[in-house]
Amino acid sequence: MLTSELDYQQFVKSFKARTGIDLTYYKEAQMKRRLTSLREKKGFNSFKDFFQAIELDSNMYAEVLDRITINVSEFYRNQNRWKVLEEKIIPNLPGTSLKKIKCWSSACSTGEEPYTLSMILHQSFPKLHADILATDIDENAMKKAKAGIYMERSLKEVPEKTKISYFKQDNQLFYVTSEIKKLVTFRKLDLLADTFEKDYDLIICRNVMIYFTEEAKHLLYQKFSRALKPNGVLFVGSTEQIFNPKQYNLETIDNFFYRKVSN
Ligand SMILES: C[S@@+](CC[C@H](N)C(=O)[O-])C[C@H]1O[C@@H](n2cnc3c(N)ncnc32)[C@H](O)[C@@H]1O
Repeated sequence: MLTSELDYQQFVKSFKARTGIDLTYYKEAQMKRRLTSLREKKGFNSFKDFFQAIELDSNMYAEVLDRITINVSEFYRNQNRWKVLEEKIIPNLPGTSLKKIKCWSSACSTGEEPYTLSMILHQSFPKLHADILATDIDENAMKKAKAGIYMERSLKEVPEKTKISYFKQDNQLFYVTSEIKKLVTFRKLDLLADTFEKDYDLIICRNVMIYFTEEAKHLLYQKFSRALKPNGVLFVGSTEQIFNPKQYNLETIDNFFYRKVSN
């Protein structure tokens, strides 16, 4: 193995031991490129020296985490999928007839995704009691999520009526209202390392699988399937179709929506 390759592999090992984050589950070429460019920008010639600096400096660690986790998000991302969720999926979730659903936005980043769900539920299903858990590996992103304050560019796809009902504008900033925030609970969770709760009606996992290796995706689909109730639904990102969903006990019910087959 090349010295530089060895240097990187050792970094991956030390990073896991120190932080619990397993970089081997992320597509290697992409991850290596992103970390190498940060290392060079910071003026380190090797990953060994870079790791020592990370251990000593929490700001440096935060920057590394920022490079690993790509936090781009927006409200109603791929709006037509949210319309399908509202019109076809939520009315048929197992808990909907019982007036109680358990939902999980599993890579929630800065909060746009769980708040979009909260807005849809509040607006169109006011009698439905909903718990929304929102998790991410990145605590800094979740700090922003909890604050619920956004620039206009995150709201491009928000329908006008929703914008008026659920945001308060102050200068250039948009504040999510408290009725929307209170449906959502934020918690740190690593999809690849942590165990999941069970009995979800709806799990949303969008625009994070693209960064994972095939092996990581395979493990994750198995975990999601186990975490769903029978007939519960997994909602994935618009480039993230599941190959052969049957192997996970899932069936396609619409583009990017998979229902757990009841045994
Ligand atoms: C591009 S954002 C997607 C945000 C939102 N789901 C959306 O589709 O707009 C990807 C998020 O995945 C998170 N992430 C990356 N690896 C993760 C992991 N192992 N466990 C949990 N979240 C992770 C990142 O921190 C980031 O916030």
